[in-house]
Amino acid sequence: MSDSIDSASSPDPTPAAVRPKGAPRFPGGPQADPAGSHFERRIRSFQPRRSRVTAGQGDALRRLWPKWGLDIDGRALRLGELFGDDRPVVLEIGFGMGEATARMAADDPGTNILAVDVHTPGQGNLLNLADQHGLTNIRVANGDAIILLREMLTPDALDGLRVYFPDPWPKKRHHKRRLIQAEFLDLVADRLRPGGLVHCATDWEPYAEQMLDVLSTHPEFENTRPEGGYAPRPEFRPLTRFEGQGLEKGHVVNDLLFRRVQHS
Ligand SMILES: C[S@@+](CC[C@H](N)C(=O)[O-])C[C@H]1O[C@@H](n2cnc3c(N)ncnc32)[C@H](O)[C@@H]1O
Repeated sequence: MSDSIDSASSPDPTPAAVRPKGAPRFPGGPQADPAGSHFERRIRSFQPRRSRVTAGQGDALRRLWPKWGLDIDGRALRLGELFGDDRPVVLEIGFGMGEATARMAADDPGTNILAVDVHTPGQGNLLNLADQHGLTNIRVANGDAIILLREMLTPDALDGLRVYFPDPWPKKRHHKRRLIQAEFLDLVADRLRPGGLVHCATDWEPYAEQMLDVLSTHPEFENTRPEGGYAPRPEFRPLTRFEGQGLEKGHVVNDLLFRRVQHS
């Protein structure tokens, strides 16, 4: 028997066939379209996909979303209130299934991680991992990270940004969907405190070159490597799921570690 709550034998109390349009798949859990049309962003860096959610992930979404979940609905956000303390906050965009996120949260309990993705099974998985490992320094946000940055966060709110293995959008006509570009960095520069770190990693070499180019030429960022170029993978970044898949295909992984400049 499948353990997916989307399957025919599913214990899902609100299967898609009887659920009114726009109603949440998981009552009390993440909303289908938290920002609605008001904050719509036409060019998206992610592909909307309807994915199977296991019973365990569905259970975590129902049980833990009210405590640790956040819908990206465009409303102003106070990070101190969200986490219940004033520890530094790092934003991770696109955590996938969240294994690396949970690892980093466990290794560094003095840092709060605001982890954003639109991928429902991953949201459930990360909530489960946080619960199982007693991690109280993770909050899981559902929706487009651009709306979170643009509408919900104040200047200098963040201590760091992590973007690990963002969708590479290899086709030329899709390059506009890539997350790491100059306009995105303008927004990040404003929300990141001076000295805050931007850490990116990718296994797609043309995208790595684009990242290096836009970060190196942006006036608000400086490379943490005085000689420039890519950084060795820092010890604090575990191998991620997508990275593992890329390495199996023989891809080369590049890390980029830049700092928001401090103006004197
Ligand atoms: C290729 S996966 C990488 C996942 C994970 N970091 C890893 O390395 O295994 C990229 C993830 O970024 C998410 N994503 C892309 N653009 C996003 C955005 N604007 N806001 C939130 N999540 C986004 C996608 O949904 C996807 O789960």
